[in-house]
Amino acid sequence: MSKPRLVPDAKAELVLAALRPSEYTAALIQVLQAKSATVRGGKVLEIGSGSGVVLAALGELGAASLCGIDIEEDAVTSGMLLLAELGHGETAELYLGDMWLPVAGRRFDLIVANLPHFPMERSDVPGRLPSWSAGGSNGRVLLDPFLEGLDAHLAADGRAIITHNAFVDLDCSRELLARHGLALSMALTTLVYIPDDKLSRMTASVLAAQDGRTIHRYGPYAFGEMHIVEIARHGAVS
Ligand SMILES: C[S@@+](CC[C@H](N)C(=O)[O-])C[C@H]1O[C@@H](n2cnc3c(N)ncnc32)[C@H](O)[C@@H]1O
Repeated sequence: MSKPRLVPDAKAELVLAALRPSEYTAALIQVLQAKSATVRGGKVLEIGSGSGVVLAALGELGAASLCGIDIEEDAVTSGMLLLAELGHGETAELYLGDMWLPVAGRRFDLIVANLPHFPMERSDVPGRLPSWSAGGSNGRVLLDPFLEGLDAHLAADGRAIITHNAFVDLDCSRELLARHGLALSMALTTLVYIPDDKLSRMTASVLAAQDGRTIHRYGPYAFGEMHIVEIARHGAVS
């Protein structure tokens, strides 16, 4: 099957290339596949849906409805095209907007996110849109408002499954969630390759503190530890 097309021109090729899935996307889908019972029949939401491929995987796993939000118009357009092409057009809704704003007052059985949360101030990673990876100096600029908003958007027995770099303070996330009656558990820890384009833009103090701990360097090559974490109300974590 060919890739979804916005319009058949060079700009569309660049947009699709910029929205291409990453190793983070792959690890998130791997966990969602392993937890298909959590997905089946549920109302799901993805914040930062990018290409729409995670929503497509959730649709294939039997989600009852698919809702996606992205700050980039091209992501919303290509995500909708992908979902329609894969037969999920009827159950999918995609919104152009910021974080929780398009779904104010709504709750979901499963919320997934692979947010920009790489610790860096600059957002000019070549080949990606500025909104793709940068999470501010500590990586938390989007992560914190996402975690803060979960309680108001999760159904009573709802869950969230998200990517969480190990070099972005996990205890800080735990404490923030605990204030809202939520707890996190680790579903998967894996290594992701950190290309030099990103490593050279990483907040220097984070790199210095994490080098040899959660960041592993072999000559010019670097890998970072990354968790897929599951979040649920206290007492309901698996
Ligand atoms: C790391 S990408 C993940 C894309 C896709 N979910 C995946 O895993 O391949 C982060 C996505 O979040 C979107 N994004 C950034 N800031 C956002 C915001 N404030 N609200 C909604 N989406 C945002 C970006 O446009 C991008 O598509």
